[in-house]
Amino acid sequence: MEQYLNRGIKDIIQECPETGRILDEFNIGCTACSVGTCLLKDIVEVHNLPYEEEHALMLRISRVIYPGAEVEVPRVQRKAQPSSGGIKYSPPMKALVDEHTVIKRLLALIPRVIEELDVTREQHRKLVLEVVDFIRSYADRFHHAKEEDILFREFGEDLEIIKSMHEEHRIGRGHVKAVIEAVESGDTAAVKDHLTAYGQLLTGHIRKEDEILYPWMDRNLSTAQVGALFSKFAETDEQSRETACRQKEFIRSLEKKFTCEEVTNHV
Ligand SMILES: [Fe+2]
Ligand SMILES: [Fe+2]
Repeated sequence: MEQYLNRGIKDIIQECPETGRILDEFNIGCTACSVGTCLLKDIVEVHNLPYEEEHALMLRISRVIYPGAEVEVPRVQRKAQPSSGGIKYSPPMKALVDEHTVIKRLLALIPRVIEELDVTREQHRKLVLEVVDFIRSYADRFHHAKEEDILFREFGEDLEIIKSMHEEHRIGRGHVKAVIEAVESGDTAAVKDHLTAYGQLLTGHIRKEDEILYPWMDRNLSTAQVGALFSKFAETDEQSRETACRQKEFIRSLEKKFTCEEVTNHV
């Protein structure tokens, strides 16, 4: 069983699909993950499984991999002890979670933006490009850059979980590029498809960061590292203050626009 700890989870699921269903039962969504390059041993630590749950999970998986055999269930070596209770973020991580809240407000509006979209009309094109501007300047250059240039580097780019976050950022950028190309060619259906795909990708990505990645990072950061992150984030915030304010204002105006339209339509 020990050798399976160092194997990629997607490989194990492919070889033995039942392991994917077991992970789902433990609320570990590897089957739905768009990247899934984590190793089995990472899953236990990253998801903060209490020791009893880790044992139960490993026992179930070992019985599927070695049916009928008596297998010794290994315990994963962890850098940090599992913590219990609700999620308590350190100040720099809390700042990133707050930025996710702003991004999620845009994601919630995507179905409204594409509802009656027709990019052959100038006003509709303008709206999509404003959405793209928010994604590029706030979600990507401001928020994702903080993750990629500061936070992820603290843990090393070779970690599978960090690679999978980078990969999802890359896929997101691909959707945004495709949206711009579709606006230029007047292809409304493609704009709708790529904005929807972006919304779904980011919704899952943010959930993983809020519920799994950031809490795991917090468990592994020293007080000195938390302090250093906090001051580096403050520096970035200072440089991007105007952009952040402008984009938050854009979200407010978009929410207002759709709320007003809803009220008007019901009068
Ligand atoms: Fe991210
Ligand atoms: Fe994020």
